[in-house]
Amino acid sequence: MRTAVVTGASSGIGEATARRLDRDGWGVLIVARREDRLQALAAELAHASFVAADLTDPDAPRRIADAVKDRFDGRLELLVNNAGTSKRARFGDEDGGYATVRRIMEVNFDAVVRLTEDLLPILRRSAPSSIVNVASVAGRVAYPRGGAYSASKFALAGWSEALQQEEAAHGVHVGLVLPGFIATEGFPQDDLTRDRPCRTGRKARGRGAPRIPRGAGPARRGPGARTQGHRSARPRRGGRVGAAVGVAAFPRKRAEQTNVRRVSLERGIAPEPE
Ligand SMILES: NC(=O)c1ccc[n+]([C@@H]2O[C@H](COP(=O)([O-])OP(=O)(O)OC[C@H]3O[C@@H](n4cnc5c(N)ncnc54)[C@H](OP(=O)(O)O)[C@@H]3O)[C@@H](O)[C@H]2O)c1
Repeated sequence: MRTAVVTGASSGIGEATARRLDRDGWGVLIVARREDRLQALAAELAHASFVAADLTDPDAPRRIADAVKDRFDGRLELLVNNAGTSKRARFGDEDGGYATVRRIMEVNFDAVVRLTEDLLPILRRSAPSSIVNVASVAGRVAYPRGGAYSASKFALAGWSEALQQEEAAHGVHVGLVLPGFIATEGFPQDDLTRDRPCRTGRKARGRGAPRIPRGAGPARRGPGARTQGHRSARPRRGGRVGAAVGVAAFPRKRAEQTNVRRVSLERGIAPEPE
């Protein structure tokens, strides 16, 4: 049986990933802070166990490595570094300064590096194996009130790209996932889900509504593009629309373009496009 560690598996993308791996016959070690959630999920899955840990705790990586040794006989084919958090605030805001940047970096970047360091010898021994780091489109494009989050995800993307080249020689593949907007507990996407046109895309804007131009999403916007324009369903002249409209209106298409698949808790990760 192939084995995986999935962090941040008490909800959202991590939970869906754990469910999908379990369905595919993997043994899964799920990790997060909320023990009750992990316990309930592990009880539902066929071959899962859990470690309840705050990944920023100094001994968290060692506890997880010990659990892999005990429960998986020291073999590990997949590490999914998915746990993450966010804080929306401007740098000049009272709650947006260095302490916030530091905290987001600790969870989204430092904890990933520390856990990967402790599991890398096991992954190398188990090669061919993989590390999948869950960053974000915000790890390629920054936006106001997302500086701390973007900094952490840019860091994760850059580090992952270097690690991928280094670890190829050891048979450890390193993948980077850059999800767009997915409504989850920690990332409820209220700005998007509040607006009917954003929820349902073009169809909801009705016949004759202007098309949102191709590539209007964040990945292709120029330096002067608006990032907070998602309250309006209409694209502005010149093809500039808010990032949120562009992405929400073309979720499937954008998912294909960016190789990010749609995740739903009921259905798990959508199958690869044919
Ligand atoms: N949803 C989106 O739109 C979106 C977009 C781009 C990228 N992402 C990324 O996708 C990943 C998963 O997010 P999600 O949307 O699925 O959100 P979510 O449902 O809030 O999941 C976040 C997970 O991380 C865990 N976690 C947070 N801090 C932790 C810590 N200090 N130690 C251990 N576990 C911790 C949480 O569990 P506990 O609270 O139980 O610890 C939870 O299981 C994150 O890295 C996020 O940045 C999400």
